[in-house]
Amino acid sequence: MIPFLDLKAQYRQIKDEVGAAIMKVVDSGAYVGAGPEGKPFEAEFAAYCGTKDAAGVNSGTTALHLALLAAGIVPGDEVITVAATFVATTAAILYANAKPVFVDVDPVTWTMDPARIEAAITPKTKAILPVHLHGLMADMDPIMAIAAKHGLKVIEDCAQAHGAEYKGRRAGTIGHVGCFSFYPGKNLGAYGEGGAIVSSDPEIMQTVRMLRDWGQAKKYDHVLKGFNARLDEIQAAVLRVKLKYIEGWTEGRRTAGSRYASGLSGVGIGIPCPPADRRHVYHVYAIRSPDRDGLQAKLQDAGVSTGIHYPVPVHLQKAYADLGGKAGDLPVTEALGREWLSLPMFAELEPAQADAVIAAVKTAVAR
Ligand SMILES: Cc1ncc(COP(=O)(O)O)c(C=O)c1O
Repeated sequence: MIPFLDLKAQYRQIKDEVGAAIMKVVDSGAYVGAGPEGKPFEAEFAAYCGTKDAAGVNSGTTALHLALLAAGIVPGDEVITVAATFVATTAAILYANAKPVFVDVDPVTWTMDPARIEAAITPKTKAILPVHLHGLMADMDPIMAIAAKHGLKVIEDCAQAHGAEYKGRRAGTIGHVGCFSFYPGKNLGAYGEGGAIVSSDPEIMQTVRMLRDWGQAKKYDHVLKGFNARLDEIQAAVLRVKLKYIEGWTEGRRTAGSRYASGLSGVGIGIPCPPADRRHVYHVYAIRSPDRDGLQAKLQDAGVSTGIHYPVPVHLQKAYADLGGKAGDLPVTEALGREWLSLPMFAELEPAQADAVIAAVKTAVAR
């Protein structure tokens, strides 16, 4: 069976180094907050992204929540985002007591369609929250131009896009603030939960640092209603080890992505079409098929594990029905939900495994 994801293949490469880093934290007695591992990790991650600063937090969802608050979102504000994403994007907006307003995605890039934004702006709109889905950055130039024209903040959901680039600029550096997840399966994954907020705006970063630590300006001086949302030191230590290797792993994903693209073009299914100005980091390699469920079953029979990211768009999820979404609101998003199928994708995917996946897809489509 070709796995959809193989986290152990990566662990085998760094077992000794990461084990020593974890034990160093355990020996040190400093376990939480920006300590001997967390502080340097923040500097190293900011340097990797190309922002002035980064702050570790306890998940990608928290990163989005605190970034929204630090960007000045208050109850009742509207935030324009997409429904073609994991529910966390919407959940974070609701945690800030703001209202998510969904716009459709572009049929080629599957990311926020800038042409849809202006029609969704109302006097209550305060921010735009594009998602760099599957590792491909949204079309940031028009998004930033619309935001500037209307005085809106831009918060990038970079949970799936570590090291992705748009016209040479990395995810998290173009908007006012960027939010990353270090969930284990992410391109940079912790051995537990984790996330980070990146920004070059010192005010945003100062607020984020207070919010993640009970709103404290200094010990027991609570100037904001904050949260217990710090990154723990063991995760920071793991992430520091992994950050050294991420570029090689990203190239591994890109090599697998190119192999899929050349093997699957002309086969009669939709494949990712990253514009030439973007560096896709293939967190997910999704194809499109009108018979997605049939294709998934055939691939399973052929020994290929697949996933779906994501089958039901957020506006059609039961939990978010009170937002008023209904079928037909977002035609491109809804079609993608029906047709997306994610192929095995991880840095260590062997060329022979990628070829076997390609062959299985071709056979399944031809049947
Ligand atoms: C697009 C997107 N946004 C936000 C998140 C939330 O990140 P986390 O699981 O670390 O809270 C995830 C991942 O789970 C995600 O894929």
